[in-house]
Amino acid sequence: MERPLQPGGTIGILGGGQLGRMSAIAARRLGYKVRTFDPSAGACAAAIADEHVTADWSDTAALTRFAQGCGRVTLEFENIPPATVEFVAKSVPCHPSASVLATCQNRRREKEFLRASGIPCADFAVVSSLAELQAAVKSVGFPCVLKTADFGYDGKGQVKLPTAEADLAAAWAKIGGAGGVLEAWVPFQMEISVLVARTVDGRTAVYDPAENIHRDHILHLSLSPARISAATAAEARELALSIADKIQLVGLLAVEMFVRDGRIVVNELAPRPHNSGHQTFDAHETSQFEQHVRAVCGLPLGGTKPLAPSAMVNLLGDVWRDGQEPDWTKVLADPSAKLHLYDKGKAAPGRKMGHITVTAPTVEEAMRRAEALHAAL
Ligand SMILES: Nc1ncnc2c1ncn2[C@@H]1O[C@H](COP(=O)(O)OP(=O)(O)O)[C@@H](O)[C@H]1O
Ligand SMILES: [Mg+2]
Repeated sequence: MERPLQPGGTIGILGGGQLGRMSAIAARRLGYKVRTFDPSAGACAAAIADEHVTADWSDTAALTRFAQGCGRVTLEFENIPPATVEFVAKSVPCHPSASVLATCQNRRREKEFLRASGIPCADFAVVSSLAELQAAVKSVGFPCVLKTADFGYDGKGQVKLPTAEADLAAAWAKIGGAGGVLEAWVPFQMEISVLVARTVDGRTAVYDPAENIHRDHILHLSLSPARISAATAAEARELALSIADKIQLVGLLAVEMFVRDGRIVVNELAPRPHNSGHQTFDAHETSQFEQHVRAVCGLPLGGTKPLAPSAMVNLLGDVWRDGQEPDWTKVLADPSAKLHLYDKGKAAPGRKMGHITVTAPTVEEAMRRAEALHAAL
């Protein structure tokens, strides 16, 4: 059995975005050394790392250099080729595994895994041609949504088909004529997500669901705890734990879910820290980033209890009007607010540049204050 990697060791992170940056902050706080790997030299996690390797995912010489001296390797980005993880795993334990990554990064494999595992999810059909799409709408019914199998995020690579009048050929062309899944539309009341961590020896820790509110298909607010019944929250946690076991997760997994009439429908899986868990940094016993590190290294997992109700609001590039750095004074002056900026350089519309977490006596108040701070920027 793999031995825990104790603080003082070196953790390698594949990917250099904000999720890697915040994982690196957590790792360094625990006394680990951190190495990051990303095709971009300006990746925002690199500033936190002891060393950064800039190279393509398929550059085996660079991957060998990166892995040398690492006690563990993990990832923060879902679209890394599984072959990259497989290559690194020959010399260093790498979590999550190439197989978990391959399942979660491809919608078809992900949905097939969920269905085969008996996890409730939207009815779906795999489609690999226009003819298959035409047949699939008959079994799945309307409304439904066509999604690409690969590289979808923030609602990209999706076409909603509201009624039988929908133009299937146009939808097929819009997803690039690539393979995908046709999914039944779920008339949900709320979107939630659950973070679950699991170690190589099967220990687990799960957080309470967060409630997610999107704007233009991008996460806007995440509220913790979600405003759902105790029974629904328990069902959500149980499903996340069951998925972690069935997929043989090592590391951290976010499970996106829909709540429909008090029951859970699982939407998708992300085997890494998740935007909807950023409030755990300031509002929970253990942040998702530290939990990620603990799980990957085989340490005892940390407590998951909320310290206070909280709301996290994303700071997208749109807030940098005319490219100008916003005035952060109001946020910084609010004792219940914490400002996190990712130092990503150029702000572009829709680009995730940072977030604010507000804690308050109630989740409604946290939401109101987070919205007000955001609106004042
Ligand atoms: N089957 C569905 N029924 C209802 N809403 C959906 C469905 N699939 C996706 N959505 C909506 O679109 C959003 C993005 O879809 P998702 O599958 O999570 O892809 P991604 O987050 O990778 O873009 C979801 O958060 C949800 O609001
Ligand atoms: Mg999603």
